[in-house]
Order: sequence, then C-alpha cells, then structure tokens
Amino acid sequence: MSEAIANVKAQFDAELAQTSMTDAQAVDALRVKYLGKKGLVTDLLKLMGGLSAEERPAYGKLVNELKSVVNDAIEAALATAQGAELERKLAGGWVDVSLPADGIPAGSTHPLYDVREEIIDIFAQMGFHVDLGRDVETDWYNFEALNTPPDHPSRDMQDTFYLDSKVMLRTHTSGTQIHYMETHQPPFRMIAPGHVFRVDSDATHAPMFQQCEGLVVDENITFAQLKGLLAIFAKRLFGENVKTRFRPSFFPFTEPSAEVDVSCVFCGGSGCRRCKGTGWMEIGGCGSVDPNVFANVGIDGEKYTGFAFGFGLDRIAMLRYQIPEIGLLTANDQRFLKQF
Ligand code: FA5
Repeated sequence: MSEAIANVKAQFDAELAQTSMTDAQAVDALRVKYLGKKGLVTDLLKLMGGLSAEERPAYGKLVNELKSVVNDAIEAALATAQGAELERKLAGGWVDVSLPADGIPAGSTHPLYDVREEIIDIFAQMGFHVDLGRDVETDWYNFEALNTPPDHPSRDMQDTFYLDSKVMLRTHTSGTQIHYMETHQPPFRMIAPGHVFRVDSDATHAPMFQQCEGLVVDENITFAQLKGLLAIFAKRLFGENVKTRFRPSFFPFTEPSAEVDVSCVFCGGSGCRRCKGTGWMEIGGCGSVDPNVFANVGIDGEKYTGFAFGFGLDRIAMLRYQIPEIGLLTANDQRFLKQF
C-alpha cells in the first residue's frame, strides 16, 4: 500500500516540475487532478475502507502527509503563477483597482515653521496680538520712521534688494511696529513674525531669513519688564535651565538698546565649540522704544513708554535642532528635511 502512495507522490513531483510556474490555470488543473473529488490523493484515501483496523492508522497517516505536501506545493505554485500573471497584465497596461494604492509619503512640518508656531504660541498665551506685516516696505517704514535717516551708518549693515530707490524688501520686521502704532492706540502688545531680506551670506547669515518682532506700549512700561518677559520667553522655548543675558548695544529706534543672549543650549553655559567657548548665544536685539519713534507715529511719548525686540527665527531653529549651516533650512533637500 505504501508503494501506491510513493507512486502518486513521484507522479505528482514529476508533473509539478513540468507545469509552467507562470500558468495559474495549469497549476489549478494539477490541484483538481490530485486533490479534487476524484483526484489521485483522494482515491488513496478512499482505499482506507478496504484495510484492516490495524493497517488503517499507519496508512491514513501516510496519505494525509502526502495530501498536505501536495497541497502546500500547489498553494506555493499557484501564488507564484498568479503573481506572474498580474505582472504580465500590469505590464500590458492593465490596472488592478483592488490593489492597495502607492503610499503617499507622510510629510512633516518644516523646522522653521515649527519654531515660528511655538514662538507665536508662547506670546499668544501672554496676550500678544499677531501681525504678519508685509515683505515689501517703503524707506519710511523700514528706516526713516525707525529713526534711521538716509545717511545713518547703521543702514550699511542692512543693505537689501531695492524695487526702486524708496521701495525695498524689508531688512527687518521692525517696520511692522510703525504700521501697528499708526493703526492702534496704546495700550497694546504685539508680535510680528515674517521674512526679511539682506545682502548677507555665510554659515550663519542668509539673504532671506525670518525674524519675530515684538512691541509692548503702555503707561509705565520699563526695561525691567522687557528683561523679565524675554527671560520667561527663553525658558519656555529652550527649557527651565536657560539663562538670559543682555549686552549693551545700539539700534536707532530703541534707547537704551541691548543684544539678547541665551546660555548655550549645547553645553549649558560652560563653553563649547558651538558657542565659541563663551557659554552664550545671541538670539536677537531689543530696547526701550525711542521717543522719536513715538513722535513719528503720533503717540504721546510723555504719557506712554514701551519696549521692542526682534529675534532671528533661523538662528533659533539652528540652536533648537543643532543645524550647523543656515543654508540647509532653505535648500529644500529631502535628506535634511526628512529628519524632522
Ligand atoms: C535687527 O534686525 C533689529 N530690528 C532687532 C530689534 C528689534 C532691535 C526691535 C531692537 C528692537 P539685528 O540686525 O541684530 O537687529 O538682527 C536681529 C537678529 O536677526 C539677529 O540677532 C540674528 O538672530 C538675526 N539675523 C540677522 N542677520 C541675519 C542673517 N543674515 N541671517 C540670519 N539671521 C540673521
């Protein structure tokens, strides 16, 4: 009896070897021939009835083993043949609408966008209004109203792209202060994030970058409040352990003026390569609003005082994500962007 089983197995192996693995119909015919109702393996099972009770278990086991071997081989051959058939059809322009669609890669937000949204959130929670301002400014808004006359030496540091002699791509977001003060009466607090443009380019300077301006005007506003606000802002953005430092500086539209540094986020302030051993990193400028600026927009500088600040968002993103070159932020290189 076991010889009959071995014969069927040998016959199946030979026929399978001759069956085309790209022809699903031929493989299915093989399945019917061996496993169908009148199939050769099914016939072997039927022979069990003529066996003695002692012979049956061993014989049944062998036939079932053969059945499972044949079944597995046919399933595998069928999968191969069906795959080949699908490939053929697809190559001929046939579309299988039941196939899962090609995955659309999940995008992510740009690191600059994330930093900007986070900064907006921090100030919005403190009651600041958001004004986006405009990318193109006249000389008045970008410079003159900000106490920077045409011959002022500080203009040299903000050379830009001129549309005509008095219209330009803004060099900083500070012009939004002027627009805002022309259209709002104190008290107010606002921030103005947006793109700015300068003839400037190296590892930490880009010709187009983003700043976030801030302006608070009310009665009795002090420089101490400015320091407190920016210290809270830095802690919310970089973490509780970050310290803030103010270095005396000069801007024509604030008096007194300061540069704002935060303790180095890489070394915690002990000094490292990224902070050039100083333990500090500059994030922006700030100061008390110069009375000449209030006069230019018709706000009573005797009654009101205020402070303003302006950060570079690209610099903050570089600190945040340890980005070594500012140009990477706008290079639109997927290898860089996929990391966020
Ligand atoms: C200004 O632009 C002032 N308007 C800031 C200000 C606002 C002062 C309100 C007082 C009151 P400054 O040129 O230093 O200042 O630029 C501010 C920040 O912008 C810098 O600290 C730096 O973070 C960023 N920044 C300046 N130039 C570039 C550049 N080319 N590329 C990238 N970031 C820059």
